[in-house]
Amino acid sequence: MDRIAITGGSALNGVIPIYGAKNSALKLQAAALLSPEPLVLENMPDLADTRFMAQLLASLGVEVAWIKEARTLRLHAAEIASTIAPYDQVRKMRASFNVLGPLLARVGHATVSLPGGCAIGARPVDLHLKAFEAMGADIHIEQGYVKAAALRGLKGAEIAFPFVSVGATEHAMLAAVLAQGDTVLRNAACEPEIADLADCLNAMGARIEGAGSPEITVRGVARLAGATHRVVSDRIETGTYALAAAAAGGDVLLEGANFHHNEALWAVMKAAGASVEEASRGVHVRRRGGRVAPVDIETAPYPGFPTDLQAQTMALLCLADGQSRIKETIFENRFMHAPELARLGAQIAVHGNEAVVTGVERLFGAPVMATDLRASVSLVIAGLAAEGQTVVNRVYHLDRGFERLEAKLAGCGAQIERQRED
Ligand code: UD1
Repeated sequence: MDRIAITGGSALNGVIPIYGAKNSALKLQAAALLSPEPLVLENMPDLADTRFMAQLLASLGVEVAWIKEARTLRLHAAEIASTIAPYDQVRKMRASFNVLGPLLARVGHATVSLPGGCAIGARPVDLHLKAFEAMGADIHIEQGYVKAAALRGLKGAEIAFPFVSVGATEHAMLAAVLAQGDTVLRNAACEPEIADLADCLNAMGARIEGAGSPEITVRGVARLAGATHRVVSDRIETGTYALAAAAAGGDVLLEGANFHHNEALWAVMKAAGASVEEASRGVHVRRRGGRVAPVDIETAPYPGFPTDLQAQTMALLCLADGQSRIKETIFENRFMHAPELARLGAQIAVHGNEAVVTGVERLFGAPVMATDLRASVSLVIAGLAAEGQTVVNRVYHLDRGFERLEAKLAGCGAQIERQRED
């Protein structure tokens, strides 16, 4: 298993390109199942997760072509050859569950394993299934599989989500585009990835209004055409490198980043003492000298503070001059990075869904273990700011969500290398 070795203490100075958003790309890939014509996705991140999704689509009969130099993926679902997504494929990545809605909408039935994914909490899919039931699907769970059928097609419905779910909002949208009649989604998630998916579906001929707000209306259409769509830039990748620059110190341009998709993070980073500005080519982040200030944060659905940046922000606040409180409200088991950060000398006390971080003047390098995608990159950030060498083990978690991480950081002066193990 590969490891990443970091010798901390070098400031980050330079340009870091920001790629397309993993979380958007995965749902856009699933959207290809809805049309017999090709969907061309530009600005595609080349990651373990997006490759994996492409393999799953291929197993369902989709013709897949990566045009690597152009960062483009062409998906053509002329025919659906299979409507079964087996356990071995879905357990590896939760987002693969998102093929259920498009298959149900296009073919009228699907059998998809219940998902696995990161070990950050229970993460059920009950809201997804209730949305399909509201649209008239019959849903049965048998031996770990969801068997869904709507042989006469899905019907538009009014769906009020009891709480905000990104996945359920996207999944309901993916199914409702081909339903008969109108679907209204209330208490919908407002993440930029939702608007990105709606833009792509609308380019394919769907009629979606209100995506990005809590109420989305989908007017069903009989069929969708092909389209070319550019994946929105990754706000989590953007935030991660911004926090790395703030923790290590330095001056970086996050090229291609959308400043407005990370307002909650910028407020926290400015309060901590970093400078963040919108630039013509992206976002400019700087921090020079001195300790960072402590800041309290609470994760929330967009436009609140993203849970996917909580671990990385904790890494920064480990070095603050004072105490910070971090409350996690989205996932119940998302402080697995805290004991690993403690191995570097951080002082963190976790009580239920709250962590109290007492800043220390210095962190010291140590061997650590990556536990999930965002947690592992928080260890890289802490390692960049620590004295001496940090070795992050089990980096396959990082490869799921961060393309060319070592190259991007090394390009800005970080001392970081991947150590391959045979
Ligand atoms: C997506 C993101 C993930 C991010 C999360 C919250 C992808 C591939 N992943 O995950 O990186 O951390 O949004 O921003 O886009 N829940 C239920 N029942 C359901 C669905 C969700 O109880 O049917 C719960 C979850 O367990 C969680 C909360 O709702 O506690 C929010 O989850 P959700 O917004 O659905 O997250 P994901 O779409 O899985």
